[in-house]
Amino acid sequence: MKLIKVKNYEELSKKASAFIVETVNQKPNAVIGMATGSTAEGTYEYLVKAFQNDEVSFTEAHSVNLDEYVGLSPENDQSYHAYMDHHLFKHIDMPAENHFIPDGEANDLQDECVRYESRIEELGGVDLQLLGLGHNGHIGFNEPGTSFQSKTQVVDLAESTRKANARFFEVMEEVPDQAITMGIATILKSKRILLLVSGKGKAEILNKLLESEQTESIPATALKEHHDVTIIADADALSLFE
Ligand code: F6R
Repeated sequence: MKLIKVKNYEELSKKASAFIVETVNQKPNAVIGMATGSTAEGTYEYLVKAFQNDEVSFTEAHSVNLDEYVGLSPENDQSYHAYMDHHLFKHIDMPAENHFIPDGEANDLQDECVRYESRIEELGGVDLQLLGLGHNGHIGFNEPGTSFQSKTQVVDLAESTRKANARFFEVMEEVPDQAITMGIATILKSKRILLLVSGKGKAEILNKLLESEQTESIPATALKEHHDVTIIADADALSLFE
């Protein structure tokens, strides 16, 4: 894993956006794996600026999102469909039919997982997968204990993850307790992976990730077996790492 140390969140976001711009400029029909959450917001902000400055166009590109909550409709403000529209899709020229996000309202969720996994394969796989890091080491919504062989699946969210994400909801009871997420094996099939880690709150888990061997109790350690992983981390996130 290659580690890029940056000063702060601003620099992290700029660098991550530049990675995506470069990927799409080299391969206009690239498939970009998108993450949601607070960490990715700045990256999308810079990506929108790059599009507005004519530095990149997404007309041939595709996006596949890591995950979606079970039971939230795309119209629900807290759904990842709404997040992506708000932060990225409505500002850029990627055709709507090129956006793929799991359907958390599917009648048959297992079937949706199989469909999503094959959709990624039909697209030729993910060229660059963006990831954030959960406080418990999750990637996507693959919580500690998830098999490294897992494919797209329905998962129960850890109570700590529900609490961490409660800030986006009015009351804790509204936070879904399940999600559909790309599995760890799905993520590892991506050609390149970019993991973003920002802030003091992530310092402990980032330190564990960098220092420990592969273990299913820290899902992100699965990334250690991938040949092209770049971590961009800011000074706060790296504050416990020597
Ligand atoms: C989001 C996702 C999660 C987040 C992680 C970090 O699609 O899959 O793994 O990337 O929970 O979230 P933030 O950036 O909000 O700290």
